[in-house]
Amino acid sequence: MKKWYAVIGDPIAHSLSPFMHETWFDEHGIDAAYIPIHVEPEHLEKSFEAMKTLGISGFNITLPHKQSIVPFLGSLDESAMQMNTVNTVHFDGKEFVGSNTDGDGFVRSLLVHPVDKTAKVLLIGAGGAARGIAFALKRAGFADITITNRTFRRAEELAAEIGASAVTLLESEERLAEFSVVIQTTSVGLSTGEALPISLERIKAGTVAADIIYTPLVTPFLEKAKEKNCVTVNGVGMFVYQGAIAFEKWTGVQPNTEKMIQLITEKLG
Ligand code: ATR
Repeated sequence: MKKWYAVIGDPIAHSLSPFMHETWFDEHGIDAAYIPIHVEPEHLEKSFEAMKTLGISGFNITLPHKQSIVPFLGSLDESAMQMNTVNTVHFDGKEFVGSNTDGDGFVRSLLVHPVDKTAKVLLIGAGGAARGIAFALKRAGFADITITNRTFRRAEELAAEIGASAVTLLESEERLAEFSVVIQTTSVGLSTGEALPISLERIKAGTVAADIIYTPLVTPFLEKAKEKNCVTVNGVGMFVYQGAIAFEKWTGVQPNTEKMIQLITEKLG
């Protein structure tokens, strides 16, 4: 019988996940559908019950439900437990299991570039996105991570949790040439005209500079990094790889990520 999957969120109309997963289902001849469902917060529990009753095989969760879905699930994997937020749910034959594939998705997108795990990494930001990436970098074996954040206390807390160092924004600017990977996880750059979270004046040429934002495709951070001859990585890869990890959990199939990155870049360009 045809399987079905969904993404739930509020709002949901602009999600690129249906396009991505339906393209992959087609490419691999998998008889399945993936639909966007607009779920308002007060209807989350009933919507989940309805999806279960109708035999959903798995789903993605976007804002604002990534945390509020947790109590309804049968169990959480390690990534979701560390984050206490879930972006992917799969049915394991017995129960609905929550995962958070954002951090691992980011790390996969980074490893496509010339990066090795002994690299000195600077993570800018200490919010939810930074947390997922910090844990995923650790899981992947990155040993030298430094965190900087506008609110220094949050950088210190996250650093203590994962076994990293914390520096102030000013110190990170001064020591920028030490790092060969710089990851921008703050919301700065989502709206136009915002100042960079840190000055990139001292960044070394050849540094891999990654931003998790993909609208716009080129943020002011990436624009500046390009001027400084860095290798720039935008957030499209993270989006595609977090979806690919979900797709693998649902179907056991590894989808074509490179082609999807191209398709989505064209759509957004
Ligand atoms: P998300 O889940 O997207 O990471 P978040 O948890 O609200 O969202 O975290 C937002 C991050 O962006 C934080 O690191 C925040 O810094 P503070 O901890 O000091 O708030 C950072 N951020 C947001 N606006 C910023 C700005 N204008 N300049 C520098 N950092 C900013």
